[in-house]
Amino acid sequence: MKICVLPGDGIGPEITAQAVRVLDALRREGLVLEMEEALLGGCAVDAGGDPYPEATRRLARAADAVLLGAVGGPKWDALPREQRPERGLLGIRKDLGLFANLRPAVVYPELANASTLKPEVVGGLDLLIVRELTGDIYFGQPRGIEVRGGERVGFNTMVYSESEIRRIARVAFEAARKRQRRVCSVDKMNVLEATQLWRDVVTEVAVEYPDVELSHMLVDNAAMQLVRDPKQFDVMVTGNMFGDILSDEAAMLTGSIGMLPSASLDENGKGLFEPCHGSAPDIAGRGQANPLATILSAAMMLRYSLGQPGAAQRVEAAVKRVLASGLRTADIHEPGTTRVGTVEMGDAVLAAL
Ligand code: IPM
Ligand code: MG
Repeated sequence: MKICVLPGDGIGPEITAQAVRVLDALRREGLVLEMEEALLGGCAVDAGGDPYPEATRRLARAADAVLLGAVGGPKWDALPREQRPERGLLGIRKDLGLFANLRPAVVYPELANASTLKPEVVGGLDLLIVRELTGDIYFGQPRGIEVRGGERVGFNTMVYSESEIRRIARVAFEAARKRQRRVCSVDKMNVLEATQLWRDVVTEVAVEYPDVELSHMLVDNAAMQLVRDPKQFDVMVTGNMFGDILSDEAAMLTGSIGMLPSASLDENGKGLFEPCHGSAPDIAGRGQANPLATILSAAMMLRYSLGQPGAAQRVEAAVKRVLASGLRTADIHEPGTTRVGTVEMGDAVLAAL
């Protein structure tokens, strides 16, 4: 199995290194895998002006799975849009057809106090956001900024075809079958036609899944319900932009975005796996970043793309043991626990494994 490793920018290289150590340990025990690194994001811009260079494209296309750290940082913010690190991320998602983004928000019992919400509101939370990732206003045409009638006008297009909606709805229903069998579809059908179609098509797909309960919610209400009573949700399915926003909100319910992995899958189960958090340029290079979201992303990769559920479970169990033993990186540290850095956290996971 070939894995393309894209450390990226900011804390990306530090946290990815710890996930690679975990995969290396599994390899020493007999898991057959090859890892090769390439550039994506700001580091790729620095090296050759293109955030998703040809060499990376070739490697990513040939790989069975991609492990990504994080991309972006203030250093590249002033560049033209095509050269921004985010363009690399959007480019690889589109190029590999990674339309299904799975973003779990799970509260670990040990970390229930880390949330800004009351422990009784978030304790035991286990929510999966299924975000469509290659359509919507992110990719819709026409788009741009132009002068109309003597002033500048900015415009984007929210667009979804029924085939795009149908395939992401199926991912959500299939995921729900392995969980509590409830799907909540989020839209803004009271205002936006594109999302009226979204609601209609999701409702049609639901007929194929009589064993799964479907509900619908408007996005503004969903944002409110997520902080009011997040445990009412099992699987939430939504479009690219609403999913971007709601998944950050859901991540924060858990108290540490530094703990959350994500998977972006194509139609055949090939995927890109990355932590939900960003490149955290403010703490880059200081050895303080939490590598657990990236290590848990490697676990998702083992499960979803490499057909190694046993290995995935072992990695997840190792992370739980480390948390139970009281080790914490700065982002999840609280009195009475032991503060450690990125590499020590990696050491502890390896030891627990
Ligand atoms: C995410 C990020 C990206 C997105 C950015 C960096 C382009 O916020 O993965 O959620 O908006 O999809
Ligand atoms: Mg986002």
